[in-house]
Amino acid sequence: MPTEDPQSAIRALLEEKRVFPPPKAFTDQANARDGAIYAEAAKDPEAFWARMAGELKWTKPWTKVLDWNPPHAQWFVGGQLNVSENCLDRHLAGWRRNKAAIIWEGEPGDERVLTYADLHREVSKFSNVLKGLGIGKGDRVNIYLPMIPEAAVAMLACTRIGAVHSVVFGGFSAESLRERINDAGAKLLITADGGWRRGKILPLKAVADEAVKDCPTITKTVVVRRVGEAAGASFDPARDVWYHEEMAKAALTCPPEPMDAEDMLYVLYTSGSTGKPKGIVHTTGGYLTHVYATTKLIFDLKEEDVFWCTADVGWVTGHSYIVYGPLANGATVLMYEGSPDFPDKDRFWRIVEKYRVTIFYTAPTAIRTFMRWGESYPAGRDLSSLRLLGTVGEPINPEAWMWYQEHIGRKKCPIVDTWWQTETGGILIAPLPGLTATKPGSATLAFPGISAEVVNDAGDPAAAGYLVLTKPWPGMLRTILNDDKRYQQTYWDRYRGVFYFTGDGAKRDEDGFFWLLGRVDDVMNVSGHRISTMEVESALVDHPAVAEAAVIGRADEMKGQAVSAFVTLKAHIQPSDELLKEIKAHVVKKIGALARPEDIFFTSELPKTRSGKIMRRLLRDVAEGRVLGDTTTLADPGVVAQLKRQYEEK
Ligand code: WTA
Repeated sequence: MPTEDPQSAIRALLEEKRVFPPPKAFTDQANARDGAIYAEAAKDPEAFWARMAGELKWTKPWTKVLDWNPPHAQWFVGGQLNVSENCLDRHLAGWRRNKAAIIWEGEPGDERVLTYADLHREVSKFSNVLKGLGIGKGDRVNIYLPMIPEAAVAMLACTRIGAVHSVVFGGFSAESLRERINDAGAKLLITADGGWRRGKILPLKAVADEAVKDCPTITKTVVVRRVGEAAGASFDPARDVWYHEEMAKAALTCPPEPMDAEDMLYVLYTSGSTGKPKGIVHTTGGYLTHVYATTKLIFDLKEEDVFWCTADVGWVTGHSYIVYGPLANGATVLMYEGSPDFPDKDRFWRIVEKYRVTIFYTAPTAIRTFMRWGESYPAGRDLSSLRLLGTVGEPINPEAWMWYQEHIGRKKCPIVDTWWQTETGGILIAPLPGLTATKPGSATLAFPGISAEVVNDAGDPAAAGYLVLTKPWPGMLRTILNDDKRYQQTYWDRYRGVFYFTGDGAKRDEDGFFWLLGRVDDVMNVSGHRISTMEVESALVDHPAVAEAAVIGRADEMKGQAVSAFVTLKAHIQPSDELLKEIKAHVVKKIGALARPEDIFFTSELPKTRSGKIMRRLLRDVAEGRVLGDTTTLADPGVVAQLKRQYEEK
């Protein structure tokens, strides 16, 4: 029977009092060291963003910084620029030409270094490959790749010719990939024969083949040879082309296509509170400005840094802080293909030691895993190159924050806890490490030029409530692809078009610091991955034995939340361990391994209100071993009491 207090993580956040002022040595050299930046940006946010945008290369200047027609924003109206030109060509004139842009390590231990000149050449060539395959401005291209440099090459090549990319995380199933390809209407899919994960081959090509069977818009598939023969990937000469063969034939130069600031840059799917994933639309000028500025000021990026963000390029963190933000700054990015525990649990620390990584950015769930593995793994490695640490993806519990500071940062590295979302494009709440004091578990203050507030249901400022954004920002999503109505409903209707509703609960302390407390909608956060309860429920009821299903995110010490499912079976079907396994496998097949339910609980009935609504709140009480909350609105209070007894006996 679960006895731990499931709310202890939140309680720890609410009771945290420690404060760490920025180390003087850090402040003295920081990109942002004059505290006036906050007040100046607050006084005139548009001027602040225009100043940041002005550090990029524009081929045509904008005529208006912001055109705000709630809930639709346009930034840098009339301006033109090209993202790949800003991330590559701009750095070629001086010595950065020969600086490492991407240092890559494959899981088996193979290494590659691409200088800015190398990356520019690869991207130019691949742009020509894309054109040769009939891809042009505005066309959609799907990318389903492991963490290899070709992922960045493919993304940048799309931006060079004005094609819109949609990257899908390699852990998603064929069905999930297909749904995303079809929603975007992609003409081309870029994938690989496989990838390496924990010494095993991820069969990406097989999954891609399965997906594109029902993707009428796909005309060609480009296949990167990552694994080779061992992958056993099939090859259909009518549809598939090898990346290396096309690249061998491609011309070396490709002029960047001038893009309007508001031209679509990419779409990236994320889970919402309904079953259907949302295609989040980002545009060119505002997005690049936002990720450029936040990378420079929050990660304090310097010429000699080696910046390692451990996310996958399939998520927004990889888009903004592996590819676009750091490369727009001319930084050296470290990219690693595989798992942190292969061949041993010190793999990350070996990488830090080997490449002298200076800035390290990861997720709280990873930090908690490192904690559980024990401090001997990092202690055995030279981590003295590190100077700044970051976290993202979920609230960080103060205990993990302190461990990170002590065992990875060796008490000398500031920690930037960065709050943001796929929808926000870049970081919105985080310290400026040379200026802002940090508190374990708090993302601290809004970035200069960002207006955030904690409000109650009525929209009035409150000490605890919902996090909202009260002004538009350059990296904000412009809409949901093919569904502008859903864009308005999801983010703006709640506060009548005045505030952007984040879906996160938060509190503000006496210093005005933000403490993020987790999602308030039907979105789960499992190991920093967003998963919708409805999506998992649809996958469950798709199984022939399942009559009804309710899914909740149960508090989990390591993952933040774990997927917990309550399932009723169709008449005459008996629960069994076999069936349980089969149903779990069905969810993996439908969505991907990231959505696999941690536990499935068979029940004869689900607790419902008289109007038939499933009371998830009560299921959460059951799963987390709490005293049941208010049951008066239930049609049959006996159902949940019975469920609780059953659960406890389990
Ligand atoms: C959560 C990831 C607390 C939050 C960049 C948000 C966080 C969701 C933090 C977005 C943080 C992200 N502290 N919670 N520092 N960062 N979140 O779209 O619930 O995958 O709404 O973007 O993650 O997840 P997404």
